[in-house]
Amino acid sequence: MKLIVILAFCLATAVYGKGLGDTLKVFQGIGPVIAGGQEAQAKVEEEAKQQLLGEDDYENYAGLWAEFKYTHSKSYSSLEEEVERYEIFQANMVRAKVLQTEEQGTATYGPSVYADMSEEEFRVHLMDPKFFAKGHNLRYDAIPSDPAPESFDWREKGAVTEVKNQGQCGSCWAFSTTGNIEGQWFIKKNQLVSLSEQELVSCDKVDQGCEGGLPSDAYKQIIKLGGLEAEKDYPYDGVDERCQMKTNPVVYINDSVAISKDEGEMASWLAQNGPISIGINAAVMQVGVT
Ligand SMILES: *[C@@H]1O[C@H](CO)[C@@H](O)[C@H](O)[C@H]1NC(C)=O
Repeated sequence: MKLIVILAFCLATAVYGKGLGDTLKVFQGIGPVIAGGQEAQAKVEEEAKQQLLGEDDYENYAGLWAEFKYTHSKSYSSLEEEVERYEIFQANMVRAKVLQTEEQGTATYGPSVYADMSEEEFRVHLMDPKFFAKGHNLRYDAIPSDPAPESFDWREKGAVTEVKNQGQCGSCWAFSTTGNIEGQWFIKKNQLVSLSEQELVSCDKVDQGCEGGLPSDAYKQIIKLGGLEAEKDYPYDGVDERCQMKTNPVVYINDSVAISKDEGEMASWLAQNGPISIGINAAVMQVGVT
C-alpha cells in the first residue's frame, strides 16, 4: 500500500479538526494580528507602555511574576539573569494587555510558560522564519468538494497520540511531521504508534535539528532513512547528537503532498483524509493562555 502524507506549509504542532476554521491563523509572517498592521501595533504598544509602566506600575507585575515562577517552576542562575527575565516578562505582559484589547480573535492573553522569553528567543524556539522562506516543491493535492462538517475531531477517532513537549529545542518541525504521519498511519493501517522525533532531530541530514527545519524536507529524509522508529525505541531527549537509529523503522511513507492555505479548504481535506501538518503565526501565542 502506498502511504502519502500531507503538508500545508510548516507547523508548530499537529492539529485537530475541531473548530478549525475559527481558530487557526495560517502562517503569514511573524506579527500579531492587529488592525492596522505592525505600525499600528507599535504605536499602541508604545502608548500602553507609557500608561502601564510608570514608575509605580512596575509593582503591578511583581505578584504575577511570583506566580509565574511558581506555576512553571522557574529558577534562574543569578540575580542578574532574573532581573533581565523579569524585564522581558513585564514587556510581554504589556503585549498581552495590548493584544487583549486589540486582537480580533477570542483568545485570552497573559503569562504562558514562555512569558520570560523575548520575542526573538520565542521566534527562534518555534520556527525561524528563514525556513519558511525556503519553500517546498511538493505537488498540490485536490481539495474535496464537500465542505468540512461543523465539528470534527480526529482525536475522537483515535488517530492522535498524546500531546508531546519539544522542550528547549527548536524541533517543532519534527513534532509536526510525526504527528501528521501518526495520523495517516492510523487511518491506513488502523494502528496508532507514537513516532520518534529524535530520529528526525539527529538523523535528518537536511533539516537542522534543534536549530529548526521543515516538514516538507523531513518527509523526503524519512523516505531516505527507510521510515520512522517508534518513540519507545528511539525516545526524545531534545538535544542535537549523533544519529542512533538501530531497530527497524515501524512506519514508512512513500510520498508527501501540499494543500491549500485556505482554512476552509484545509478543514475539508482534513475531515476526509486525516490530520495534517501546518504552520501558524504563533508569535502571539507567547502570551496567549487560552
Ligand atoms: C512504499 O515504501 C515501502 C518502504 O520503503 C516499500 O516497501 C513499498 O514497496 C513502497 N510502496 C510503493 C507502492 O512504492
